[in-house]
Amino acid sequence: MKVFVYSYREFDEAEWFTHFSKEYGIELGTSPDAPTLENASLAKGYEYISIITTKVDAMLVQRFHDLGVRMISTRTVGYDHIDLDKARELGMQVGNATYSPNCVADYTLMLMLMSLRKMKRIMQRAELNDFSLQGIQGRELPNLTVGVVGTGRIGRSVIRNLTGFGCRILAYDLYENEEAKACATYVNLDTLYAQSDLITLHMPLTNDNFHMINESSISQMKDQVVLINTARGGLIDTKALIENIESGKIGAAGLDVIENEFGMYYFDRKSDILDKRDLYILRGFPNVIVTPHMAFYTDQAISDMVKHSLESCLLVDQGKPNPWNVL
Ligand code: COI
Repeated sequence: MKVFVYSYREFDEAEWFTHFSKEYGIELGTSPDAPTLENASLAKGYEYISIITTKVDAMLVQRFHDLGVRMISTRTVGYDHIDLDKARELGMQVGNATYSPNCVADYTLMLMLMSLRKMKRIMQRAELNDFSLQGIQGRELPNLTVGVVGTGRIGRSVIRNLTGFGCRILAYDLYENEEAKACATYVNLDTLYAQSDLITLHMPLTNDNFHMINESSISQMKDQVVLINTARGGLIDTKALIENIESGKIGAAGLDVIENEFGMYYFDRKSDILDKRDLYILRGFPNVIVTPHMAFYTDQAISDMVKHSLESCLLVDQGKPNPWNVL
């Protein structure tokens, strides 16, 4: 069988694509570019394509379908970048790829600690030999209540990490999980918002939770609340976030994702004028850390993403049950 790989990266993915395609007997076609209407024809003759988090809208889904592609496998956990309605209408399959949840969970803990300890300011000042103390006093995790929204694999891994710190852990999810229950107390969202000093988001972006963190939900939160987002930018209404940082309601934010990041990550855009005002505003705040959607980026995750994306195509080709099937 054959898989065409878009956004193929020589420097970190190639060794895994070579390794796993050999192991599974898969023939690969590759392009370093993201899929577009212009380069979709590269996939002609391939029933399976592997992509990352670049937009595949209805027109592009249609184009791939017309070219004979029967499955789009994204080598990412999230799949909100693919027009699922169109794929469903055309009877195409869509798969995602899971990877070790520790990469995002560890990064989340790092953003929590950096936010609580005002690390951005400490590092900026230290660079300038400003070793003063005023304005950089931190808070200690064991004294705080952390609200974990979403207790899937990543949320549970965050909870596991948090248990070592001795903080009170609240959790919210539509589906409660026994492992999470052992270390965290499930509450409704209103309670989580009202009682948490620090709130961290770990769910996929859907039509139902778009902008769930908005003016109204922020108003229910504690003063000086710390928000951490390593999931999807669309979960937070950026306008409300900025206004509440400006007003001092939000004490700090650690954001690995922001709204409208498509087309920006993972390119070298340092010489370009970016039309991303929100990014500049957020990055300008001393109490906000913005990183470029990097929480996933570890050796283990890259190997898992490639392996599971190829395995997922293979299972579909063999007519076997596919655990990564989202459509
Ligand atoms: C995902 O796997 O869904 C991610 O967020 C990481 C991806 C942008 C590479």
